[in-house]
Amino acid sequence: MGSDFGGEKTLGRWFPKLYNIVMKPLDLTKLRKIRKMLSEQAGGRVLEVGSGTGMNFPYYKYAAKVDAIEPNPWMNKQAQRQVKSSQVPIHIHLAKAEKLPFADNTFDTVVATLVFCSISDPLKAFREIKRVSKPGASILLLEHVKVNHPVIGKAQEALTPFWKSVCDGCHLNRDTVRLLKLTDLSVLKVHSYFKGLFLYIVCLNEERD
Ligand SMILES: C[S@@+](CC[C@H](N)C(=O)[O-])C[C@H]1O[C@@H](n2cnc3c(N)ncnc32)[C@H](O)[C@@H]1O
Repeated sequence: MGSDFGGEKTLGRWFPKLYNIVMKPLDLTKLRKIRKMLSEQAGGRVLEVGSGTGMNFPYYKYAAKVDAIEPNPWMNKQAQRQVKSSQVPIHIHLAKAEKLPFADNTFDTVVATLVFCSISDPLKAFREIKRVSKPGASILLLEHVKVNHPVIGKAQEALTPFWKSVCDGCHLNRDTVRLLKLTDLSVLKVHSYFKGLFLYIVCLNEERD
């Protein structure tokens, strides 16, 4: 596929290095426990969307195989090193969530962590996730979202244009659960962390008659 990260001066090139510097200390906290718990829920054929630098790779335990998609080639370069730390086979693909390079009904589990804040067309991405998921598949998400607090929510709205430009398209004001409710995926569970700033969301691709 084509990449939007072709230019030497794009944010996409330095963002992966900065991302690891910022995220590694954060990951020593509760976030790492959530990643581990989420990745350990993933079984069978697994799709990881927006795998970034591969921070979830060491935690997959029960997946038969993980196909990880990520549109930033510099993220993929760093993720390739993490593949060695995985207990399961992982194959990385250069692709976007809005156009997944997989056949219908392929995956038993789909994982995305801290990704739907950055996807340009999240509804299109959810449609693609539904298409490539088997009926009965689980979709496991960890997302930072707009909080349900009048002052903090407004601050997130105000900061988003600046934040997007320095953090590679990340929206602080995404309401991922509201978006999910516009799709054909069923939201089974929403667990809130850090006062609702981070949500662990479990969805089901329901079998239809
Ligand atoms: C904040 S990082 C999260 C990376 C990783 N999932 C993690 O938990 O550390 C967001 C990732 O989403 C990726 N991304 C942005 N737009 C995307 C899209 N349309 N489809 C798939 N991934 C995308 C970015 O390149 C980046 O790697």
